Amino acid sequence: MNIRHRRLRQNSAIRALVQENQLSVDDFLVPLFVVEGNGVREEISSMPNYYRMSLDELQKEVIELWELGLKAVLIFVKVPDELKDNEGKEALNPKGLMPNAIKAIKEVCPEMLVFTDVALDPYSSYGHDGVVKEGQIVNDETVEILSKISVIHAKAGADFVAPSDMMDGRIEAVRKALEKANFPNVGIMSYSAKYASAFYGPFRDALDSAPGFGDKKTYQMNPANANEAVKEIIDDTKEGADIIMVKPGLPYLDIVVLAKQKTTLPIAIYQVSGEYAMIKAAAEKGWLNEKEAMLESLISMKRAGADIIASYFAKEVALLLK
Ligand code: PBG
Repeated sequence: MNIRHRRLRQNSAIRALVQENQLSVDDFLVPLFVVEGNGVREEISSMPNYYRMSLDELQKEVIELWELGLKAVLIFVKVPDELKDNEGKEALNPKGLMPNAIKAIKEVCPEMLVFTDVALDPYSSYGHDGVVKEGQIVNDETVEILSKISVIHAKAGADFVAPSDMMDGRIEAVRKALEKANFPNVGIMSYSAKYASAFYGPFRDALDSAPGFGDKKTYQMNPANANEAVKEIIDDTKEGADIIMVKPGLPYLDIVVLAKQKTTLPIAIYQVSGEYAMIKAAAEKGWLNEKEAMLESLISMKRAGADIIASYFAKEVALLLK
C-alpha cells in the first residue's frame, strides 16, 4: 500500500499541522437577551446557563466578553406584555429598551460591535414578525416599520442592523432609510435564508414571543427547500445587504455551502436556541460530552464555509480558547 491516510492522523502534532479549519474568537457573534429592571440576571429555563439581563448586568457582561476577545454582540429585547400591540409601536420608542441597551453597551465598551435584531415579534401582541390584518401578516406596511426601527437603532449607535423578519423588499427599504437618515456606515446583516424551524422554541421562551396564532410559515422558509434560499440570498445581495445569514445552523450546512457559491458577501450562520438546548440537555443527562459536541458542531460550521457564527456557546468557547 502506497497510500495510507492514517499517516496524517497518527499523533496530535501531525493532526494539528494538517487541520483545515480553526475556531477563533474572531468568528463569533454573541446573542444577548435584555430585560427591564436593575440587577436582573435570570436564567432562561430552556437554555441552561443563559440569561436575560438588565442594562447594568449587560454592561458587566459586555466588558467580560470584550476581555475574552469577543468583538460583536447581537441584541434581543424582552418587552413587557403591556407595551405590545399589533404595529409594534414600542419598537419606535427612541427611549425604549433596545436604544438604551445599545447606548449602555457603547458607554462601557465603545469598540464592541453592536448588531441589533430588527423584527416586530418581541413587540407584537400577536407574536408575529409583522403587522397582522385579517389574519394575514402584511408585507409592505411591516417593511415601512422595519425601516423606521433600523434608523432608531442606528441613531442609538448600532453598528449593524439585522432584519430577522423575512418580509420581502426589506433590505432595500432599510438601506434607503439608513442612507436618507445619514447613516451610510451602518451595515445590514440580513437573515436571508431563515427557515420556519422548530429549533427556535427556547428563544421564544426567552423573549415570551411565541406566535399567538398560526405559525411563521407564510414568511419563514420551508425546510424542504434549497433553491429558494439561493433566490433570497441573491436578492438580498442586490438589495444592499453587507452580510448574509443562514439560520438555523447545523441542519442547514448545505445552505451555507450553496450561499458561498452564490454570493461573495460574508456568510453568518446562527446556531439557534434549540441547537444549544439539545446539546445542553443531552449533556445534563450524561448522554453527550458537552464540550466535544459543542466544538464539533461549531467547527462543522467553519468547514461548511461560515465566516461568522452566532452562538450561545460563544463565551464558553472563548473561555476554552484562552
Ligand atoms: C425573531 C427571531 C427568532 C430568532 C431570532 N430572531 C425567532 C423566530 O423567528 O421565531 C431565533 C433565534 C434562536 O432560536 O436562537 N425574529
